[in-house]
Amino acid sequence: MRSTFSTRLGAIAAAAGSAIGLGNIWRFPYMTGENGGAAFLLIYLGAVLCLGIPLMIAEFMIGRTAHADVAGSFRKLLPGSRWYWVGAVSVFVAIVILGFYSVISGWTLEYTWRALTNDFQTSVASAQLVTPDAQASQVLTMDFNAFATSQLPPILWASLFIAINAFILLGGVQKGIERASNILMPILLLLLAMLCVNSLTLPGAAGGLRFLFEPDFSKVTGQTVLAACGQAFFSMSVGMGCLIIYGSYMDDNTKIGKTALSVAGLDTMIAILAGITIFPACYSYNITPNAGPSLIFITLPSVFVAMPGGYFWALLFFILVALAALTSTMSLLEAEVTFFDETIGMTRRRAIMVSALITWVFCVVSSLSLGVWNDYKIAGLNFFYFCDFITSNIFMPLGAAAISLFVGWKLDRQIVRDAITNRKEDSGWYLMPLIWALRVFCPAVIFLVFLKGLGLI
Ligand code: PFF
Repeated sequence: MRSTFSTRLGAIAAAAGSAIGLGNIWRFPYMTGENGGAAFLLIYLGAVLCLGIPLMIAEFMIGRTAHADVAGSFRKLLPGSRWYWVGAVSVFVAIVILGFYSVISGWTLEYTWRALTNDFQTSVASAQLVTPDAQASQVLTMDFNAFATSQLPPILWASLFIAINAFILLGGVQKGIERASNILMPILLLLLAMLCVNSLTLPGAAGGLRFLFEPDFSKVTGQTVLAACGQAFFSMSVGMGCLIIYGSYMDDNTKIGKTALSVAGLDTMIAILAGITIFPACYSYNITPNAGPSLIFITLPSVFVAMPGGYFWALLFFILVALAALTSTMSLLEAEVTFFDETIGMTRRRAIMVSALITWVFCVVSSLSLGVWNDYKIAGLNFFYFCDFITSNIFMPLGAAAISLFVGWKLDRQIVRDAITNRKEDSGWYLMPLIWALRVFCPAVIFLVFLKGLGLI
């Protein structure tokens, strides 16, 4: 008998855990800051509402109806068709994303350790003994680059991270994923709330809030709209099949519309809170918030070095980021595991071992490609950035379009109606808008995101 989540809250915690990750805490704040603040935020909210939520409902629907792994779900719902390949490709994409995502996740463990051992402070102080006018941000940039391009340490941290994921998944759906999500998500919320309150009480916090929230419509271009859509997909984990898997663990009475709304709401709230945490802190210490990995691994440590109680806040922050990454990687690894378990026919234990091993190989190559293997390029990018590029610009939009078209046009209309109305128990008032969003609107917008991602428009 296939497992299900034991409570409705557990299902929400797990799916929200998948959605809430580095995309919220690191990517969302700088995207918002770079793209016109509140103007971007408004467009982002529109993208969550009109694209993210319909796609999330579609994924939950496929999983909850089929109760199978990603590839198996398509096969069950449309036997003998080629749609099966959409699922099979998603599993491959999960492996690729997990490969580079676990490298960054490993960095968060290293930085948690550095925060715990007060390394930021010590490193800056000892550099200033030798060169008195050395800036904290210069020292921390060198530290970060030396670490990220080194060979063994990032691989060891990422291996530990993958092992923790595998260990949680060994506990199964209820005692592994659901229990971990039920424990970790409230901790994550609490940590973020504490960090947020601290940031808001810093002198000069208002400047950071203005940066984040003051609408600058002059920065809005077609590109901004597409960037907001891309961010919504990544942040909500749609287009990848992870939510199909979590949908497959929902029991037949779970209201998928309401669940999607709760998960989207939590995901958006955490992203905004992360922005409220990061920008006021940077402004308060006159440090320019940068984009890219340097925001959390260089800029913020520079802020913590200057902040009273910085040791404590740095530690809380890196624990928060590591936990957020963990609940996201769990869903990616689970997508792999169920494929090897249910479609290939391995035992769950063996499927976990095999998935962890494949992920580990990708992760080692990704990590080394930032350092010693940096000269080996594919399409001008090293392996790490190539994986990032093809997944977020090609495979995720294509996956999202395929899922959207599948539910909109291919899936038996009665199945869709039953899933939305819970076999006529609920009103399902949003059935028609949902179907038309999935048939026309989502595929059309995704197509534009896709062309933009490839630099064709
Ligand atoms: N949603 C995650 C984040 O915001 O970090 C990333 C992610 C997880 C993307 C799972 C895709 C996925 F299938």
